[in-house]
Amino acid sequence: MSDVELSLELASELSAELETSFGPHLATICARTARALEACGYAGLLVHSGSLLTVFEDDRTYPFEVHAPFKVWTPLSDVPDCFVYFEPGRRPQLVFHRPADYWYKPADLPRAYWTRHFDIHPAADLGAARALLPKDLGHVAYIGDAFPALAQWAVGAVNPPKLMRHLDYGRATKTPYELACMREASQLGARGHVAAAQAFSEGASEFEIELAFLKACGLREQELPYNPIIALNDGGAVLHYQLLEKHAPTERHSLLIDAGAEFAGYASDITRTHALRGGDFAALIERMDEMQQSLCAGLRAGVDWRDVHLLAHSLTGKLLREADIINCDADEAVATGVTRVFLPHGLGHLLGLEVHDAGGFMDTPDGGDIPRPEGHPFLRLTRVLQKGFVVTVEPGIYFIDQLLDAARADGRAGKINWPRVASLRKFGGIRIEDDVAITETGCENLTRDAFKAVQKKPALKLSS
Ligand code: GLY
Ligand code: MN
Ligand code: MN
Repeated sequence: MSDVELSLELASELSAELETSFGPHLATICARTARALEACGYAGLLVHSGSLLTVFEDDRTYPFEVHAPFKVWTPLSDVPDCFVYFEPGRRPQLVFHRPADYWYKPADLPRAYWTRHFDIHPAADLGAARALLPKDLGHVAYIGDAFPALAQWAVGAVNPPKLMRHLDYGRATKTPYELACMREASQLGARGHVAAAQAFSEGASEFEIELAFLKACGLREQELPYNPIIALNDGGAVLHYQLLEKHAPTERHSLLIDAGAEFAGYASDITRTHALRGGDFAALIERMDEMQQSLCAGLRAGVDWRDVHLLAHSLTGKLLREADIINCDADEAVATGVTRVFLPHGLGHLLGLEVHDAGGFMDTPDGGDIPRPEGHPFLRLTRVLQKGFVVTVEPGIYFIDQLLDAARADGRAGKINWPRVASLRKFGGIRIEDDVAITETGCENLTRDAFKAVQKKPALKLSS
C-alpha cells in the first residue's frame, strides 16, 4: 500500500469512528444535562459560544476561542455568537451565526458527522437568534459571557454555580467519542513533537521550533489548546516559559518542549525534554522517563490521585539522591520539602476540552471539595480516578534559582549538592508529560501510543 493510500484509509477509519460514536456521546451529554437541570430547577439550557473582542480603538479582534461548555455540544471551536439550546426530551438546537457581510467571509452552515443530531438554524444577528428561541426564557439557565443585549432576554439565571458544577463534574468522565478525539489530538501533537525534535537537532531557534511544530500538526497557533512552552537551555527552568526567542543561542544544550494539539475541541498536553549531547543530563532524562513510566503503570480506577502525587515526590527524592543532586535520602528530602524545590508543580491534572480541565477537586456534583495534601498548593487534581478519566502525568525536576536561593537561605543548604546543581543549571530542567486514559482494567497511554502510531504513518498532506 502506498503512503497516500495508507493515509486515506486511516483518515476514513477515523471518520467512521466519529460518525458512529457521536450519537451515543451526544445522548450522554443530553442525559447529564437533563439530570443537572432537574437537580437545579431549570427547564432548559442556553449556551452562547462567545463574542469577538475588538482591540481598543482598532478594528482588529483578538483571537477567538469557543469555551468548553459550548464545545461539549459540538466540535465547533471558532464560531462566535452561536447558541446551543437544550430542553430535556427534545433534540438540541444550534442557532448558527451567519451575518450578511462582504468584509469577512461568514462561516458556512456546518455539515459533518455530528450535524444530523441537531436542528440547525442560521441567524444573521443576535436579534434573529433571539427570535428563534422560546419566547419565555424565565426558567432557562444561560451559560457564557453576558453580552449587553442579554439583559433584555430575561433568562432565568446566568452561569448559575450549582448547575455549572453538576456539568463540570460529569466532564471528567470521557465518552468513547471523546477518547477517539483525544487519541487524534495526541497523534497530531506527537507529529509536532517529532518535527520539533528534528528542528532542535538542526540548530533551530525557539521560534523556528514552534513553526516546525505547527506545520507538522497542520494547525495555526490560535488553534492549539495552549501556548507552547519551547525553552532552550536554562529557559526550561521557567515552568510556563513563553518567550519564543527568534535567535538560537550560540551554545545549545537542551530543549524542553511542552506543546499539544487540539482535535474537535479536545486537547493533548505533551512534554518532552531533549539533550543535544550524551552525558549526565541525557542520563537524567532517561531516569526521569523510567520514573514517569512507572507512575503511569500504576494508574487505574480507584487510585487516589493525591497518593500518586506523593509517590512522585518519593521517587523524585530517590532520583535526586542517585544523581547526587542532594545529600540527604529520599524520605528526608520529602519531609523537609527539598523535593518541592526541584518539583514545585502538581504531578498532573484532568485533560479534555480544556487543558486544565474542570472539576479536579469536586467530591460530588452537589458540593464539597477534596483538599490538597498540605504543602502542595499547586496540585490541580485531588479526586479518585475513575474509568473514563484522562489525566496528565508530568513529573519533572528543575533548577530554579528562586527556589534554590530560598532553600539555601532557610536552613536547607546542607541538603543540596551545590556544585552538582551549578553544573546542571544550564540545562534548565526536565519534564516528561503523557496523557493517560483510565480504562476498565488499568490505563491507556494516549501519548506513547500516538508516538508509536505516527512513526508508522505518513503525514497527511494539507493540500495536493
Ligand atoms: N501545558 C501546561 C501543563 O502541562 O499543565
Ligand atoms: Mn499538563
Ligand atoms: Mn503540558
